[in-house]
Amino acid sequence: MSAPEEQKMWGGRFERAPDASFYEFERSWQFDRRMLPQELALDRAWARAIAKAGVLTDQESDKLVAALDEIEKRAKSDSAWLDASKAEDVHHFAETALIEKLGPLGAKLHTGRSRNEMVATEFRMYVKQALLEILNAVRSLLRAVSSQAKAHLGTPLPGMTHMQRAQPLLLSHWLLAHGEAFYRDAQRLVAAIAFADSCPLGSGALAGCAFPLDRKGIAQDLGFARVSTNSLDAVSDRDFVLDALFALATLAMHLSRLSEDMILFASTEFGFIELPDEYSTGSSLMPQKKNPDAWELIRGKTGRIYGALFALLTTCKGLPSSYQRDLQEDKEPFFEAHDQVLAMMRIAGAALSATKFREARLREAAQDPTLVATEVADYLVAQGLPFRDAHEIVGKALRAAEKEGKSIREMPIAKLKELSPAFGPELSTVLTLESALARRSVIGGTAPGAVRAAMEDFDSRLAALEKNS
Ligand code: ARG
Repeated sequence: MSAPEEQKMWGGRFERAPDASFYEFERSWQFDRRMLPQELALDRAWARAIAKAGVLTDQESDKLVAALDEIEKRAKSDSAWLDASKAEDVHHFAETALIEKLGPLGAKLHTGRSRNEMVATEFRMYVKQALLEILNAVRSLLRAVSSQAKAHLGTPLPGMTHMQRAQPLLLSHWLLAHGEAFYRDAQRLVAAIAFADSCPLGSGALAGCAFPLDRKGIAQDLGFARVSTNSLDAVSDRDFVLDALFALATLAMHLSRLSEDMILFASTEFGFIELPDEYSTGSSLMPQKKNPDAWELIRGKTGRIYGALFALLTTCKGLPSSYQRDLQEDKEPFFEAHDQVLAMMRIAGAALSATKFREARLREAAQDPTLVATEVADYLVAQGLPFRDAHEIVGKALRAAEKEGKSIREMPIAKLKELSPAFGPELSTVLTLESALARRSVIGGTAPGAVRAAMEDFDSRLAALEKNS
């Protein structure tokens, strides 16, 4: 059985039509139809550009542009039309529709151009717009982080390394730590958009267009910042997709790490947060359960985003110069990664905003006296002891306290003096949670003043990010 009879974009040198199953295998309309708006915009720009180059008359160009507008209108309201099409790809679809409307004039539009440069151009347009959408979602998440941080200035949290209690932190400091990672994601997205912002149109199949095109004018018409500078590179370069996918993969990784914290914090063992009903699920068996499925799914979906990056890296590896059909495999991984990350971002932002932090429980956990052990060592250093000796003495003091079933805060000074004469009564002021926090007042530290300053700085960077898009 052979493929459906439609006017092909090639066919002339063939005696027989492609096998039907091969046609299904090679066609991309099923997924590249997403780029129909970009295709039609490109077609309009091309009609104008080749008229300027003397290939079409102005009337011909106007007719083509008007027909393309009509096609766009119909495509918006008649999805059955799109569903029924057996087009090979989005370029074939537009050309078929145009020829149906205009006959021979429709068949003139492809003069001087190749699908190789078209697909590269349209995909760049698509990626730019898709990344902007993600960037907007990152902005919303950054705002959610910022307002939670503001709402909790003053709430402490036991900070951990190696999942062991280490030193106290402010909850706002923890929130802003995630915020900084997402801020870098925003920067990476901006950079990826800039990488994609170069117009390949005019590169031809590989060697450049043979008509006197105003490439800069076309680029401007299509909203690109610049034109590509080597036709051979331009038709085969997919670095911009890889950059986009790397930005998405890193963003997903950050979402996954936030998820992990949230899942732990929601456990009875931690009890730091109350999961919002709206973003949690229950168990079909155990009536008491409220599960952090939103965060688990975000963490779980991260695998697919990495998969998209690796799929395309592998596709591009070992390709010879110029366009190869392998490159058609660039679109689905990106579409998938984009859809998933967008959904992940929206749920993460909403779930974070709706989360209740259990302040009393956080405060109680942050009062753990072992969290101020570093303060005791620093205190001894202030009395003139070398840090290494101080560390040793505090270790011994902790051990002695543990033996007596006491915390270091409850140890009598006389007992501590047996370990080092440097211990004095002022020690008690050092051992408070407040003092441990307040001492970390360097830029980027967790002292309340430093965190307040960090928050202001974060908000002003966020405002700048809102402005430049
Ligand atoms: N559908 C193709 C793609 O996505 C368009 C370019 C086809 N070019 C070609 N010479 N067959 O890559």
